[in-house]
Amino acid sequence: MTQEELFKKLIAHSKEYGYIFPSSEIYDGLSAVYDYGQYGTELKNNIKRYWWDAMVKLHENIVGIDSAIFMHPRIWEASGHVGAFNDPLIDNKDSKKRYRADVLLEDYIAKLEEKVEKEVEKGKKKFGDAFDEEQFRATNPNVLRNQKKAEEVRNRMVEALSANDLPGIKQLIIDCEIACPISGTKNWTDVRQFNLMFSTQMGSVSEDANTIYLRPETAQGIFVNFLNVQKTGRMKIPFGIAQIGKAFRNEIVARQFIFRMREFEQMETQFFVRPGEEMKWYEQWKEERMRWHRMLGFGDNMYRFHNHDKLAHYANAAADIEFNFPFGFKEVEGIHSRADFDLGNHQKFSGKKIQYFDPETHESYVPYVVETSIGVDRMVLLVLSAAYTEEKLENGEERVVMRIPPILAPVKLAVLPLVKKDGLPEKAREIMNELKFEFNCQYDEKDSIGKRYRRQDAIGTPFCITIDHQSLEDNTVTIRHRDNMRQERVAIKDLRGIMDDKVSMKKALQAI
Ligand code: GAP
Repeated sequence: MTQEELFKKLIAHSKEYGYIFPSSEIYDGLSAVYDYGQYGTELKNNIKRYWWDAMVKLHENIVGIDSAIFMHPRIWEASGHVGAFNDPLIDNKDSKKRYRADVLLEDYIAKLEEKVEKEVEKGKKKFGDAFDEEQFRATNPNVLRNQKKAEEVRNRMVEALSANDLPGIKQLIIDCEIACPISGTKNWTDVRQFNLMFSTQMGSVSEDANTIYLRPETAQGIFVNFLNVQKTGRMKIPFGIAQIGKAFRNEIVARQFIFRMREFEQMETQFFVRPGEEMKWYEQWKEERMRWHRMLGFGDNMYRFHNHDKLAHYANAAADIEFNFPFGFKEVEGIHSRADFDLGNHQKFSGKKIQYFDPETHESYVPYVVETSIGVDRMVLLVLSAAYTEEKLENGEERVVMRIPPILAPVKLAVLPLVKKDGLPEKAREIMNELKFEFNCQYDEKDSIGKRYRRQDAIGTPFCITIDHQSLEDNTVTIRHRDNMRQERVAIKDLRGIMDDKVSMKKALQAI
């Protein structure tokens, strides 16, 4: 099965099993907008809880807020979003398809880099143990040619994007002979800038109405509350403010399911530090955030850092944490050193002094900021794509199992009476009524036990508790483990403790 086929199956599975539905589906959907179903919502909530606890609960010097989506329009001038939150777009005149010009170039560079890696793989196979990778990369003519080309294109792209040289970007697309994937032609329009913010009107009478924006990031709600939180919380630098909330972007190319949406959710922390100390904190946060990801157990090799060539308008250093999605390594989280760009500009635009008096240095200054910003929906996609597994069993049957880490699984345990009679349902209900206060449980008595196990595998329930006739005699049940299908018999009185040990976030949080 190709990665593309796998991805299609995952999208279908997410819909069939109540994770994610296309928005407004009975009206044929709304492009790049999705709704979360019953299991998707639980998964999303668990991801948010894992993040919130890791940030707010575990750091004495980080607090959380919830700011409004609507904000004063001047905020978006101060933040640079009115002037600079643009994507360069280009249309193919034959297919009438619209693309982000920088994405076309990045895909082209990625293909060249793929060719390099394929050549290295070929070398490895050919020379076996005698293979000297360093020397091969330094001397093989195909590797050198593709590497040089990728570097040249990247340098020209970064230069043109930084200088806002739109004709230069178009020329580069022409020089690289990039064709539209739909029409196959190179018949391109000029490159234009496109602002990604959604706007609407606030006010009842059209003359009074002000254009306001749906926030494109949650970060600004934190910056404009810097003084409120610092003063009321008596916060001392270094300290952070965290927030989870919706953000909106009119993405030109909305694609890859919930990877790039027009309405999405972010989890952001702005960490305020002394000017000059930002790079130390930037490195520290990069490492800590990577540990948070790796604790989920999908494999360290599934993640990598990607340092930005072209920095966003607010950043002086930036790196992405990338995950190996079914469509390749892509950004799931950004760590940005934003210096005093935001607080400094809000001070200028609002005319209010936004400074911190440092009791240790006896100086007042505009604090610098290191930001960590992760998309909740991208994290959901990460978990779903890493978890989706098709398996052939020893008896020849097949099963689809979602290997979602137990701490994030929507349903922690299913309570299943072996048969629908002989007092087993009553016993099962008794157990369920005991456990449901602490764990998200599901009761199911319909169909054979095998079918019920498959249903739970498909939604990713890590444990099934089966109540059989022996349970009535000795107060024991079996726990069936999702991943290896192993069954163990345990006393009912021990269930709570066993489950707590397996699904509690405590261990993961302790290890970050
Ligand atoms: N405050 C900084 C900021 O917003 P960003 O790199 O533009 O930085 C941060 O976005 C994260 O938000 C990304 O790493 C990604 O996970 C998520 N994100 C951004 N745009 C998205 C979109 N259109 N759909 C889903 N998630 C998105």
